Amino acid sequence: MKEHLTNPGDIYRELIANLRAAIPESVVPDFELQIKAELVSQIEVLKREKNAVILGHNYMEPVLFHTIPDYQGDSLELSRRAAETDADIIVFCGVHFMAETAKILNPTKKVLIPSLEAGCSLAEGIKPSDLLWLRQHYPHLPIVTYINSSAKVKALSDVCCTSGNVGQVIRWAQKYFATPSVIFLPDKYMAGNVAKDLAMNVYFPDKQDEPKSETEVTQSPTIIGWNARCYVHEQYTPEHIKAIRSDYPGAIVLAHPECPPEVVSLSDFSGSTSAMSKYVEQNGRDKKIALLTECSMADNLVANHPELNANLIRMCNLRCRYMHTITLEQTLAALTYEQYEVTIPEEIRRPAEVAVRRMIAIG
Ligand code: 13P
Ligand code: SF4
Repeated sequence: MKEHLTNPGDIYRELIANLRAAIPESVVPDFELQIKAELVSQIEVLKREKNAVILGHNYMEPVLFHTIPDYQGDSLELSRRAAETDADIIVFCGVHFMAETAKILNPTKKVLIPSLEAGCSLAEGIKPSDLLWLRQHYPHLPIVTYINSSAKVKALSDVCCTSGNVGQVIRWAQKYFATPSVIFLPDKYMAGNVAKDLAMNVYFPDKQDEPKSETEVTQSPTIIGWNARCYVHEQYTPEHIKAIRSDYPGAIVLAHPECPPEVVSLSDFSGSTSAMSKYVEQNGRDKKIALLTECSMADNLVANHPELNANLIRMCNLRCRYMHTITLEQTLAALTYEQYEVTIPEEIRRPAEVAVRRMIAIG
């Protein structure tokens, strides 16, 4: 290793050696690793002093992802971890709706998000007034809400779901509320994808027009959806899959369920970020695999399994600008100054907790 430390001690050398063993130079060069190692060691000290736990989503950049989180995973796994923790402080290295979910489940704990810019285009794509409008037109239909939504939206919902359990939760809602049709929001594409999986119709009402009546949408099993989209996953097109299949014959294509239905239907497998990671870990040594999702996840997989690098196909311009506002520097500042604290008024948190806990109980 080329050494760039001005004053290296044995502890730093050991930390850097451990990082180098976990993350190959092709992903993070030596000089960057040495800068990051110093930040990691400071974060670790503060984490112990303050009895904090760090949760890291699969889209975090590789050095952060492979060092400071106590738990890594998709939204469902991290919600479960948030529900179980006995730490005093939860630092969420993910986006704001994930930190809000942790706060919904832990009202007495301090929940911190390292950046105020860590939003989500899906969560921003629906407002509480939209749910009130839907409730007014469809008073007897349950509202199933994707976890990528604000606490205020969750508070007006019957149950939440993630990409890892959306089909299961919709089936549960049909049974529990004894209705063939459900409202699912806000992800337009996930609505289309899950409707196809469950053999349901899909209908997107528009606030500008008179919507179909409740009687009409309950004639046959229907998902009443909304029009929000993930600005990262909506960029994938069927042409990308055709190009992959032509350039890499025999390659397997994985697509996140936030991708448009015409993309998911051409792919070989669709699942949450963790489900796709597991698929790559199990199959990526023998076959080429294209990963249609946020690109850091592929970097994180290669960091853990360098032997997968040659087989993993990804489009590296597709990164989530919100996720990437979370850095080691911001996380150190979050723990040092205990910023930025997530707060939710009790009258919103309590009904939102019912919807989130229902989801966790369903599985
Ligand atoms: P997962 O729950 O699959 O990790 O998805 C979260 C997300 O925001 C994907 O864009
Ligand atoms: Fe939201 Fe898309 Fe970013 Fe996920 S990748 S946090 S859905 S904008």
